[in-house]
Amino acid sequence: MSTATLTSTASSVVNQEGYQTFKIGQFTFERDEYFAHILYPGNRHIMPIEAFLRALMRDIAWGFFYGTVNFDAVFGTINHYGTVEMYVGLNNEAYRANHQEYVETFQSKDLKKVFEAILADWTNEGFDPFAAPEETGLAYGRKHGSNLKAVQRQRLAAKRMVGLPGDLKMRTEEDGLPVNRQFLDVPQDKPELHPEPGFEGQVHAVNLFAYLSRSDVTWNPSVVSVVHDSLLCPTTEEHILPIIHGNDRVEWFVQFSDEIMWEIDDKTTGRPASKVIMKAGDVAAMPADIRHRGYSPKRSMLLVWENNDGTLPQRHASGELKPYPVEF
Ligand code: PHB
Ligand code: FE
Repeated sequence: MSTATLTSTASSVVNQEGYQTFKIGQFTFERDEYFAHILYPGNRHIMPIEAFLRALMRDIAWGFFYGTVNFDAVFGTINHYGTVEMYVGLNNEAYRANHQEYVETFQSKDLKKVFEAILADWTNEGFDPFAAPEETGLAYGRKHGSNLKAVQRQRLAAKRMVGLPGDLKMRTEEDGLPVNRQFLDVPQDKPELHPEPGFEGQVHAVNLFAYLSRSDVTWNPSVVSVVHDSLLCPTTEEHILPIIHGNDRVEWFVQFSDEIMWEIDDKTTGRPASKVIMKAGDVAAMPADIRHRGYSPKRSMLLVWENNDGTLPQRHASGELKPYPVEF
């Protein structure tokens, strides 16, 4: 594994489809009407452009996330919180067995810059990589326009809790966030608060279902409450999680509504491990030694509970912590 420095973010070359080519280290990124091409020494990997842009959007918005973001079974990034590895075949048993994997390490801020430039140039007018497929235009074709407003969305993160004064705002009709077509039955009433005298202003509650019913994005957890390292990150899901997440710690899922099917594979080899069907009310802990991808046939509400303790990756990697949180 080598450590590369940033050579350039974009060559001035615009290809015949109208898209820029981008280089970082020994990697070159090209797009045509249907595909992203990832060139690396000696070979190239190809991905459908829509899947590539959906994964790229999340890798950027989540700051390379926790642990591994597999864009597919071959290409992805591993977050080392300051630096990031970008790889082909590293978490793929067949690539590894045939010594076909390729990895470079970058400063996170350098790779982020290149990824943002790719996303901005390659996303056409009308395509929103955060939207459900039924709620967006197509990613395909020659370059036509852009959608900077969509691709530059920041992750929504509360300082303490959504709805507190000066904190992450509740979503409203007036802010252009109507109730989603699949959540029209979600009550929009507000909780009643009856604090004891003297405790007014210290008690807070929101209708989280109402908040989620107005989400205009999919597979994009927002942080709605923060207590030390405990981050509650609910999200609305429809179609397929655009990345295959290999976590460096345990995370918990609580299915708030509808149903998601999870495919669980071994984190390093990708060998299928199990399927988990989560129905409304189900709770699951995703272990630290697997990768997972969710399928949500209808828009559903999911709570992702993350532990932001920065010592966890090392404590799992060293074997100090078991990959699962509970022994039954
Ligand atoms: C996950 O990888 O755990 C994850 C990511 C995004 C979501 C839900 C789950 O929307
Ligand atoms: Fe995950």
